[in-house]
Amino acid sequence: MNIVALNRELDLPAFEKGSVWLAGAGPGDPGLITVLGLHALKAADAVLYDALVDERLLAQARPGAELIYAGKRAGKRSCKQSDISRTLVSLARKGKRVLRLKGGDPFVFGRGAEEAIVLAEAGVPFRVVPGVTAGIGGLAAANIPVTHRDTNHAVTFVTGHGADGKLPDLDWTAIAKGAPTLVLYMARSFAAEIAAKLIAAGRRADEPAAVVSNASLPSQDVRVTTLAGLGQAAAGTDAPAMLVIGGNVALRDVLQGTKQYSSLSPLASLKNTA
Ligand SMILES: C[S@@+](CC[C@H](N)C(=O)[O-])C[C@H]1O[C@@H](n2cnc3c(N)ncnc32)[C@H](O)[C@@H]1O
Repeated sequence: MNIVALNRELDLPAFEKGSVWLAGAGPGDPGLITVLGLHALKAADAVLYDALVDERLLAQARPGAELIYAGKRAGKRSCKQSDISRTLVSLARKGKRVLRLKGGDPFVFGRGAEEAIVLAEAGVPFRVVPGVTAGIGGLAAANIPVTHRDTNHAVTFVTGHGADGKLPDLDWTAIAKGAPTLVLYMARSFAAEIAAKLIAAGRRADEPAAVVSNASLPSQDVRVTTLAGLGQAAAGTDAPAMLVIGGNVALRDVLQGTKQYSSLSPLASLKNTA
C-alpha cells in the first residue's frame, strides 16, 4: 500500500502549511519511526534533524525538502538551542511545513519540550508526534524487558547529563531506593561514579546491569555486567548508550535462549533490596 492510500485508510491528519511537527524518529532502526512520523517526513518542506536520526530515514523526505542538521553531538558542528527554536519559528512563518525530527521520543531528555514552549509562546501551530524512546524500545531491541512482574513494578528514568555537561546533582540515595530498575540516558562517562553512589546508598554490587549501545541498529552492542562492573563495561567507546540496572537485565539470557527462566530463581534475589 502506498503512503497516500495509507494516510487515507488511517485517517492521518494533514500537515498544514505554516505549522511545525515535533516528531520522534525512534532509537535508531529506521523501521521504528511511527506511521505518523513517516507521514510527516514525506510531507514536510523543511526537516530539522538531530545527530542520531538515521540517514536512511532522511532519504524518505519529500524530494526538494530542505534538510537542516540541528544536532549537538561531538565531532559535528553543534547547533545552539536558541538558533534551532528561532529557525523553527521563522520557517513556519514563511508558510513552510516544518518537521523537527528528534531521536527517540521528542519529550524524553531531548529538549523537545523547550522547543514546544517557544512555538506555543510564538503562536506557531504545532503538533507533537510521540516516538519510541531508547530507554524502553532500545532496551526491548536488546532483549531487556523494561518491566517484568517478577523483577520490577517500577522504573526510574534518569539523565546523566546536567545543563553544564556534568553529572546532575541528584539525590542518589532516593534514586537507589526508589525503583528496582534504573534506566540512565547520557550517563556512559559517569557510569563508575553512578555505580559507586548507588552501592553506597544500599544497592547490591552484584546486581545485574548492562550497557546497551547503538540499540536497535546493526552495530548494537550489549554488555551485561554487575552494578560494580558498570564503569568498566561502559568504557572504551563514545557510542550513544543506555545504562540499565536491575533484575530485569538477567531476563535477557532467557530471551536469548541461553538460560532457563527457572534457573534465575529465587526471583526475589533479582529484586532490589535497597
Ligand atoms: C539527547 S538524549 C535523547 C533521548 C531520546 N529523546 C529518546 O527518547 O531516546 C540522547 C541519549 O539517548 C540515548 N540513546 C539514544 N539512542 C540510543 C540508542 N540507539 N542506543 C542507546 N542509547 C541511545 C543515549 O543515552 C543518548 O546519549
